[in-house]
Amino acid sequence: MTETIRRLVLLGGDGIGPEVIAETRRVIDWFARHRGLAVAVSEAPFGLEAWRRHGKILPEATMAEIMAADAVLFGARGGPGYEAIPPAEVKAGSLLRLRRTLDVFANFRPLFAIPALFGASSLKDRVLEGVDLVIVRELTGGIYFGEPRGIERLPDGTRVGVNTHRYTSAEIRRVAGAAFDLARRRRRRVCSVDKSNVMEAGALWREEVTALHREAFSEVELSHMLADNCAMQLVRAPGQFDVILTDNLFGDLLSDCGAMIMGSLGMLPSASLGAADAAGRRRALYEPVHGSAPDIAGQGIANPLGAILSFAMALRLTFERPAEAKLLEDAVAAALASGVRTADIMEAGARRVTTAEMGSAVLASLSRLLT
Ligand code: IPM
Ligand code: MG
Repeated sequence: MTETIRRLVLLGGDGIGPEVIAETRRVIDWFARHRGLAVAVSEAPFGLEAWRRHGKILPEATMAEIMAADAVLFGARGGPGYEAIPPAEVKAGSLLRLRRTLDVFANFRPLFAIPALFGASSLKDRVLEGVDLVIVRELTGGIYFGEPRGIERLPDGTRVGVNTHRYTSAEIRRVAGAAFDLARRRRRRVCSVDKSNVMEAGALWREEVTALHREAFSEVELSHMLADNCAMQLVRAPGQFDVILTDNLFGDLLSDCGAMIMGSLGMLPSASLGAADAAGRRRALYEPVHGSAPDIAGQGIANPLGAILSFAMALRLTFERPAEAKLLEDAVAAALASGVRTADIMEAGARRVTTAEMGSAVLASLSRLLT
C-alpha cells in the first residue's frame, strides 16, 4: 500500500521557537523511520532571522511553501528586536496575518490533566482528576481583526484607541459547526461562552449557536456560559467541561487560564484548521501556545512538549494517523512519569533536564512503547 506523501513546513520563528521545533523534528523523523509516516519536511525562515537575512519577516518564498503545504508547524514569533523594524513590515509579517491568510478560523486547544504533572499545577489534585476538555477558539475574526481600529486624535486633542468587536452570522456558525463536530466524537457536550449580557455581538453569537444546534446538532448537549463565569469555573471545576466554544479574545484569555490544568503553559499544544476543500483537505497550522519567551531563549531550557504535542495533533488531524498520535501522547506521558522535567514543570524529587534531553526522553519512550 502506498501512502501519499504529505508536505510539512516547519517555521521555528523567534525566541524559543527554533529550540522546541528542533526537538519536534527529531520526533517527526522518528515517525518517518519507524512508523512509515510519509512526510516531506522542510524548514523555512520566518521572524527576526528572516528579516536580518532576507529583509522580510515573512519572505515570499516562505509564504509559497506554506501555501503549498498540507500542514505548518510553527514555533513562536515575537520578542525584542521588532521595535527597530518599520511597523508596516511588522504587521505584514505578523502571526495574525498568517492565521488570516490561511483562513484557519477554528483553533483547537486541548487541556488534559497529566497525572505526573499534578504537582506542577497550582490546582488541587481533586480538581485536576480526569479533566479532559478542548477550547475551540474562533481565530480569524472578532476584536483581533475588526475595523475600524487605530489610535486617533479627536478635534480637542484627546487621543483615543479604537478596536471593533464584530462577528457575522457566517463566522459564528462555521466555528460553532467545528465545535459541535468535535463534540460528536467526544462526550457530546458543548458549552458556548460569550458576554451576551453586555455585548450585541455576544447576543448574536448565542442566537446563532443556538439556531445551528437546533438545525443540525441536536444529539449534542448545548449550554451557554458568560465568559467571566467561565474563567472562574475553569479553575474551580474544570471537569464539568467537554468542548468550550468561544470567540477570539475570550479564547485567548481562557486558554492561558486553563494552562494550569496541564501544569504549565509550556505543555499546551494547538491546531488551527480552515474549511474542508472538495477533497476534504483542510489548511492546518499547528503551534504550541507558549509564545517566544525571550527571557529564556537560547538557553536550551525551554519545554518542547507543547510543540511535540502539537505534532501529535497533526498526526491525528492532517496525517490521519490516530494510532500514532496516541502513541506520541503516551510517550510524552511516559517520559514525564520517568521523572524528567524542564524548568517550567520542575518539582522536588524530579530530574531537571534541558530541551534536548526532554526530546531524547520522548524518543526513548517511543522506542520502549513500540517493543
Ligand atoms: C496566542 C497568543 C497570540 C494571540 C499572540 C502572540 C498574538 O497569545 O496564540 O494565544 O493573542 O492569539
Ligand atoms: Mg494567548
